[in-house]
Amino acid sequence: MSKKDESKKLGKNGVDMGERGVYDKRNTLNELTGKEWVFFTNSVWITGYSPTAKENVGLKYRKIHPSPKPPALMRDIIEFFTKSDGKIFDPFCGVGGTLLGTAMAGGQREAVGIELEKKYIEAYEQVCEAENIQRMTMIQDDSANMLSHPEVAGTEFDLVIADPPYSDMMAKERTGQRKKLYNDSSPMPYTCEAADLGNMSLEEFYNALRHIMELSFTRLKSRGYMVVFCKDFQPQPGSPNLLHADIVRELSKIDGLVYRGMRIWHDQAMSLFPFGYPYSFVMNQIHQYILIFRKER
Ligand SMILES: C[S@@+](CC[C@H](N)C(=O)[O-])C[C@H]1O[C@@H](n2cnc3c(N)ncnc32)[C@H](O)[C@@H]1O
Repeated sequence: MSKKDESKKLGKNGVDMGERGVYDKRNTLNELTGKEWVFFTNSVWITGYSPTAKENVGLKYRKIHPSPKPPALMRDIIEFFTKSDGKIFDPFCGVGGTLLGTAMAGGQREAVGIELEKKYIEAYEQVCEAENIQRMTMIQDDSANMLSHPEVAGTEFDLVIADPPYSDMMAKERTGQRKKLYNDSSPMPYTCEAADLGNMSLEEFYNALRHIMELSFTRLKSRGYMVVFCKDFQPQPGSPNLLHADIVRELSKIDGLVYRGMRIWHDQAMSLFPFGYPYSFVMNQIHQYILIFRKER
């Protein structure tokens, strides 16, 4: 291509990034090219991080947690919703998927996380130590107290990522295939704390989640994004249990927070089980919803 054709293609704002595509200098959200941006906007996101892949760094320590997120997944979310000096907040940070993803995304990005359970924080610290990964700020507390911590109260965040427990789903007694799958029927909650959203009834859960997200919203910059993970419950007679729709409705009550769409994430590492066989259809729910909101003021 001649120099003239090339500059016509780039326009006055385009920067040729080679294989990565063309970066538009007016991009205020992230440092991605158009090609990379389009990839992230696909509403279906299929990943396949093997337990030993470097993208699943430190799983050996993190697997004490019932549902750790792959750090590479969090890195990709962080790279889309922040510039390289972005600040990220996670009010339910578990064994640190978001914090590790922030370190993997690099630049001068920094993250602050809050987690109720000490042993999860220690597992995160072990990963950082063993893998020589930059350690972010992790606070042990109930997120409802977030504003009493200067690391949260004194920071304006570019992105909030929340991966809350889903009501008392984790604490429910296992039956049928679930019992066989886990090899026992005992409940496995994240913690034994009353403040753990995973130990609350559905109604208490919605109120507590909205409250924590409302507090997080006060620390989010104008036009910043809030990303919430969730999974539906199995439908029951009288209740479709579409948790993702209920969470969108609940969080839309926060004045100025606007729902902007979702990605459906499927991790291919998940196995299928013959739930319900041979009597009735019981779904194998192997996807999660990544709900995306923006502070519109
Ligand atoms: C789904 S897990 C998050 C997993 C995390 N994304 C990771 O990669 O490890 C939810 C976490 O929220 C914590 N949690 C529940 N209620 C909380 C609260 N009120 N304040 C802070 N953490 C809470 C639980 O202990 C649990 O570790």
